Amino acid sequence: MEREKIILDCDPGHDDAVAIMLAGKSPKIELLGVTVVAGNQTLEKTQINALNVVQCLGLDVPVYAGCGQPMIREKMTAGDIHGETGLDGPVFEPLTKELEKEHAVSFIIRTLMESDGDITMVTTGPMTNLGMAIRMEPRIVPKIKRIVLMGGAYTNGNVTPAAEFNIIADADAAYVCFTAGRPITMIGLDVTRKALCYPSIVDRMDKIGNKASKLFVDLMRHFCKSQKEVFGWEGGPLHDPITIAWLIDPSVVETKPMHAEIDIRSVQSYGRTNCDFFGYQKLEPNADVGIGIDADKFWDMVEEVLRMYD
Ligand code: BDR
Ligand code: CA
Repeated sequence: MEREKIILDCDPGHDDAVAIMLAGKSPKIELLGVTVVAGNQTLEKTQINALNVVQCLGLDVPVYAGCGQPMIREKMTAGDIHGETGLDGPVFEPLTKELEKEHAVSFIIRTLMESDGDITMVTTGPMTNLGMAIRMEPRIVPKIKRIVLMGGAYTNGNVTPAAEFNIIADADAAYVCFTAGRPITMIGLDVTRKALCYPSIVDRMDKIGNKASKLFVDLMRHFCKSQKEVFGWEGGPLHDPITIAWLIDPSVVETKPMHAEIDIRSVQSYGRTNCDFFGYQKLEPNADVGIGIDADKFWDMVEEVLRMYD
């Protein structure tokens, strides 16, 4: 079976950790590397979190630290959801896995330049690393098979009424990525808010009884608690792994081609992904935007991959 080659650029983050779980074990995915960016917490913390997750799962995947700061705007984090460490909840064994020496942006550039144009870039955090890579070495652009991101919304945001966290946290980087001219699949809040991780889902995964399910449960117990405190929901939207689920089986998410533009100019709507759902602008669509999800199928996929771990 031909496996989808990906680089997963993330800011773990509870849901990023589950994205690593799916990408690291699915037989449909070849995870070439995990690159880390500041987002849910500072880079010092997200890089440690990525190493802890990869080590805990026993994955043989290199981890690269990237940008600790957005391209232009002030840094913002999401400690209200992900806690002081960015991954509150699980207790990890002492860390022995180390970061690669190469910077994440250099790794992205080198790997894409050496490729046959068959690598998909998945981003589940602010898009700083990919945006910087595109600006540093524009020759990578035609080498990017597709950008699959968790970010944005064509309805309401989760940081402001207009903007979602990953986009507003580095809207300039998102702008660079959305205007690069490569195929984009945007998994935004419109989809992820339909994949709520209710306590019944956590109990279901708990029954698997292996190291991956234990990590999932420890992560989700914290994540769901903070989602309830912040948004008042019983189950937290499990945003990031839906990117990987879409790559494993695109039928899990319904998408619609739209012209999508990142607002980097306005005050009230800064960081909004303006998606022309109805095609008012008569512009060529530049993104396949997620509009629906088969949540049952998604949870079945999560369970299936979790069961593949020892
Ligand atoms: C996104 O923001 C982060 O807090 C999550 O990890 C996810 O990538 C959701 O808005
Ligand atoms: Ca994330």
